[in-house]
Amino acid sequence: MHAVRRHSALLHSTFLILIILCSSADSLKVTVPARHLTAARGHSVVLGCEFSPDFGQNPDLSSLVVTWQRQEDNRVVHSFYYGQDQLATQNSTYKNRTALFVNELRKGNASVKIENVGVKDKGRYLCTVSTSQGTEKAELQLDYGAFYTEPKLTINARSSDILVQYETEGFPEPQVMWKGEHGENLGNNIQTFTQTDEEMGLYYIKSVYTAPNSPLSFTFILENQLLHQYLQRPVSYTGGQNSCFYEAIALAVISFLLVLTAAILAGIYYCKKK
Ligand SMILES: *[C@@H]1O[C@H](CO)[C@@H](O)[C@H](O)[C@H]1NC(C)=O
Ligand SMILES: *[C@@H]1O[C@H](CO)[C@@H](O)[C@H](O)[C@H]1NC(C)=O
Ligand SMILES: *[C@@H]1O[C@H](CO)[C@@H](O)[C@H](O)[C@H]1NC(C)=O
Repeated sequence: MHAVRRHSALLHSTFLILIILCSSADSLKVTVPARHLTAARGHSVVLGCEFSPDFGQNPDLSSLVVTWQRQEDNRVVHSFYYGQDQLATQNSTYKNRTALFVNELRKGNASVKIENVGVKDKGRYLCTVSTSQGTEKAELQLDYGAFYTEPKLTINARSSDILVQYETEGFPEPQVMWKGEHGENLGNNIQTFTQTDEEMGLYYIKSVYTAPNSPLSFTFILENQLLHQYLQRPVSYTGGQNSCFYEAIALAVISFLLVLTAAILAGIYYCKKK
């Protein structure tokens, strides 16, 4: 009798220990695979978030709550509970632009996709997950950039020099360089004008190279380090028709003067001989 009771007491405590071990192994964990992400204007981005799933006996997602929020002001980016997206509380700035991967939730993937990224999406995001095992959160930082548009080239030949100009916009401030025919930096003859539109998240840049005369051969280089964008535009300019026309006239005038000089010299020589 005694032996049996002792045995069951032992079993009991073994079970207790097992339960404690299991529940600590089962406790909810929420993590972000990347704590820092960069998104480009107009593109989409997936904010990654993973949790330890506990859908063993309970294959429906009714006990799961996933909420994505902005850390700065608690704005709701996307939320999911009662087994479906719940967008009534979503902030209007994210309307129609977000989606969870609902088929992935069962595997513990609570990532959210944000489409058509803009400058206002830059900031801190909180992924909060609740299951029967508790509630946990993880945070990540989203940075914003914009690819620079194809630089627009304008060449303006003036009487004394040539103005070469490139215009483009993107974000953030780029690194701009002009290189001459032999790779030399043309920095001394460059003027740069910039303007920032905070609201749009765009940085407008106009870079002007004042060249002494044609023919010209140079390379315009622009780099957006944040987005790893590198543009290189080599240009050769031999001058327009106008300068060719003037060259022809100049040549004609010089030839005429040479002939005239020769004639005068010949005349003088002829007169002296006489
Ligand atoms: C979640 O699923 C999406 C879509 O399949 C995938 O792009 C993303 O990498 C997954 N994220 C994680 C953290 O597993
Ligand atoms: C969205 O968030 C902004 C900034 O926090 C807030 O001013 C606005 O009232 C929110 N709108 C909705 C519909 O929640
Ligand atoms: C959201 O998307 C749907 C379907 O594309 C569209 O009909 C609706 O007008 C959009 N709403 C907003 C606020 O953009």
